Amino acid sequence: MVPGSRPDPAAASASGYEVTVCTDEAAQDRALTAELAAGLQSVPKDLPPKLFYDDEGSRLFGEITRLEEYYLTRSEHEILTRAAPEIVALSGAGTLVELGSGLSQKTRLLLDALAAAEALEGFVPFDVNESALRATASAAAAAYPGASVHGVVGEFGSDLPSIPRAPRRLVALLGGTIGNFSGPERQKFLAEIAGLCEPGETFLLGADLVKDRDRLLAAYDDPHGVTAAFNRNILRVINRRLEADFDPKKFAHVATYDDEMQWIEMWLRSEEAQEVYLRRLALSVSFAPGEAVRTEISAKFHPAQVSDELTAAGFSVLAQWLDGAGDFSLTLARRADGSPS
Ligand code: SAH
Ligand code: TRP
Repeated sequence: MVPGSRPDPAAASASGYEVTVCTDEAAQDRALTAELAAGLQSVPKDLPPKLFYDDEGSRLFGEITRLEEYYLTRSEHEILTRAAPEIVALSGAGTLVELGSGLSQKTRLLLDALAAAEALEGFVPFDVNESALRATASAAAAAYPGASVHGVVGEFGSDLPSIPRAPRRLVALLGGTIGNFSGPERQKFLAEIAGLCEPGETFLLGADLVKDRDRLLAAYDDPHGVTAAFNRNILRVINRRLEADFDPKKFAHVATYDDEMQWIEMWLRSEEAQEVYLRRLALSVSFAPGEAVRTEISAKFHPAQVSDELTAAGFSVLAQWLDGAGDFSLTLARRADGSPS
């Protein structure tokens, strides 16, 4: 077992699933302190996006996925509806590992296809948000009583090694989450995923595609204000975890598209000159009127670029699917033999 992980055998026997919690809250908060201090003192300021996903953030993200403007979830759902049986056949998998599973709405399509092929042995959801993870694990255990369900609460940056081994795993990263990494971070993360896979195991990657800039911007700045509420929620999380006094009302949600970097940027813009105090950091931060802090990026891809990045990370691409409108891509790759480059 991985040091520091805490399996919860009681949960396993009572409800048919097991959950490993990797990240000790205190250690997490200590690491966060350094990360936040650095981000708030850099130019421009930035905040760690994993903080979006407390319970309220996960709920608001669920609302985003149902917005007319947020086409990503529907497009990926369309592809999975059509391609899940082929994905299952090509992968030859028995266990699905889902990174950043959240509420796992689309995952059902893959699990159903595995079950239909009489191949389903296990499901391993992995997410930083413990309650979303537990809800997903418990729903999967109830829906697929024959499968072994083992959830892992952890962070992409440190806890991938806690993912249990199982014969013939398919690792999935859906929802365009890969776009939340900048180029170099993305290459490192993809190589880590390749390192996690045994030769022959497969990886399914969702990636949002470059398209008309107005549609991209609308997906990250809806007229109902749901995305704005999601973006501002990060300030509430920081207030709670680091005893800070951000007033979310004094920050406006701004989304921009950078053509050159090929990514959306999410910002919170200070509407006035203000000072914020973070007690756990003993740090006072001032904002000039109009000064914006960057909270997230969401990179967009060309289909060939996704394949190239997977190849560079140590995978060989087996197949790629787009939805009918060409908005979103799913790429299936196999971990190449030998050590990753
Ligand atoms: N797969 C879902 C959710 C995508 S949102 C979908 O396609 O709709 C991104 C998910 O990744 C959230 O559930 C969030 O809690 C999780 N996440 C974000 N940053 C993370 C990190 N650093 N480590 C682990 N999980 C993270
Ligand atoms: N993974 C999602 C995406 O890139 C995250 C996301 C959607 C997001 N809307 C957002 C992050 C608004 C910050 C703000 O599409």
